[in-house]
Amino acid sequence: MKTLIKNGRIVTAVDDYKADILIEDEQVSVIGKTLEMEADKIIDASGKLVIPGGIDPHTHMELPFGGTSSSDDFFTGTRAAAFGGTTTIIDFAVQTKGESMLAGADKWHQKAEGKAVIDYGFHLITTDFEDAHKPEMFKLIDEGITSFKLFMAYPGVFLSDDATIFRAMSAAGTRGGLVCMHAENGIVINEIIKRFLADGRTAPKFHALTRPTIAEAEGVHRAIAIAEMAESPVYIVHLSSKDALDQVRQARDRGIPAFAETCPQYLFHSVEDYGDGWDGAKYVMTPPLREKHNNEELWKGLKMDDLQVISTDHCPFCMKEQKELGKESFDKIPNGAPGVENRMALIYNGGVIENRISLNRFVELTSTAAAKMFGMFPKKGTIAVGSDADIVIFDPNGETKFGVEHEHMNVDYSSYEGWTVKGKVETVLSRGRVVIENGEHTGKQGDGQFIKRGECVRI
Ligand code: URP
Ligand code: ZN
Ligand code: ZN
Repeated sequence: MKTLIKNGRIVTAVDDYKADILIEDEQVSVIGKTLEMEADKIIDASGKLVIPGGIDPHTHMELPFGGTSSSDDFFTGTRAAAFGGTTTIIDFAVQTKGESMLAGADKWHQKAEGKAVIDYGFHLITTDFEDAHKPEMFKLIDEGITSFKLFMAYPGVFLSDDATIFRAMSAAGTRGGLVCMHAENGIVINEIIKRFLADGRTAPKFHALTRPTIAEAEGVHRAIAIAEMAESPVYIVHLSSKDALDQVRQARDRGIPAFAETCPQYLFHSVEDYGDGWDGAKYVMTPPLREKHNNEELWKGLKMDDLQVISTDHCPFCMKEQKELGKESFDKIPNGAPGVENRMALIYNGGVIENRISLNRFVELTSTAAAKMFGMFPKKGTIAVGSDADIVIFDPNGETKFGVEHEHMNVDYSSYEGWTVKGKVETVLSRGRVVIENGEHTGKQGDGQFIKRGECVRI
């Protein structure tokens, strides 16, 4: 199968030029000024941007959490990702306490196989890590699961103590693995929650007030200090506040390999979105939404490379029946929000159109940096001869409307209901197959492949 994309403006993390692209089967085979080869399909990209497919390295499909499971499975979630211009996700497999790391990964292979419509990789949420687990970790790394998420939050569920974190980082660091850290002091947060509940402060907005930014900053500081002692890099997930960002900045200024991602919700929403009523449950996620001034600080971090990646932390729960588990008390609301479909257009509009970042930086933050950070570059994350033809044809003058009636995630609300932004994902190719065209999904379940990732942090 040959596909020719003609007349587009190709933008990667470093390039910006007009050229045609020939795709043969799954990969880009020729890029040239005017290609006249025969092809089975010709796509005219005049006036459009031709960019690498988005990579979202932080999603939770079918995650058992908070007494229920996140509402997207690997079919609905990856199809929604494709609609939004994302062609690769890295989802979080879970090693439940007492289980082997390999069993956790196997469970996620079963969830994804035959369902995903775009390519996917896994991190492993690691809940037990003794030195005896090292061979399992190394086996996973050999099998392409090269990153591991540990938690300083959620005591009794996912939380790992500092010794466990140190052991996991020490081991991962010797083999090109990377520990991703949920950095919030969950032990202190739990004490604060107890006080709020005792005072009868149970509405959704109190979720935010019980998780102060200092709890995040302390976690980030500790994660980086432990990584430094373990002589390994560290990647902070879903960083949400200036206080936490300052910890990353200070470490990076000292030359420490500390990296971090933020997510659209922390760039566009604020604590005010909780309001006083039940509707605030939509934004019950951890870390919570922050005071407004943090938004611009995070954009600054993205611009100055103190933050390297924008992921979504897509973890949807329906308001009906799922978020409702916490109707009486915020601490019972399953934590997480949808977003995998919204990221590319939101960041294009908020970043490029609003002059906060360049077009190249947009591509880097939404695709290339994650490919390099998580061992997929140059197969993914760029448009180059030999790379997978994961390509988005993006209309810079189009419009994207957000809201449940326009979106495809399996959830009964949108975090951006009623918003319209400039820029529109028009056509999406996943390894050369057109999967989104004319507003329709044209791919099929099971076409997405597991990506065996290599060494992390080639950035
Ligand atoms: O609220 C969130 N972020 N839910 C997903 C789990 C996590 O901590 O990433
Ligand atoms: Zn987390
Ligand atoms: Zn998450």
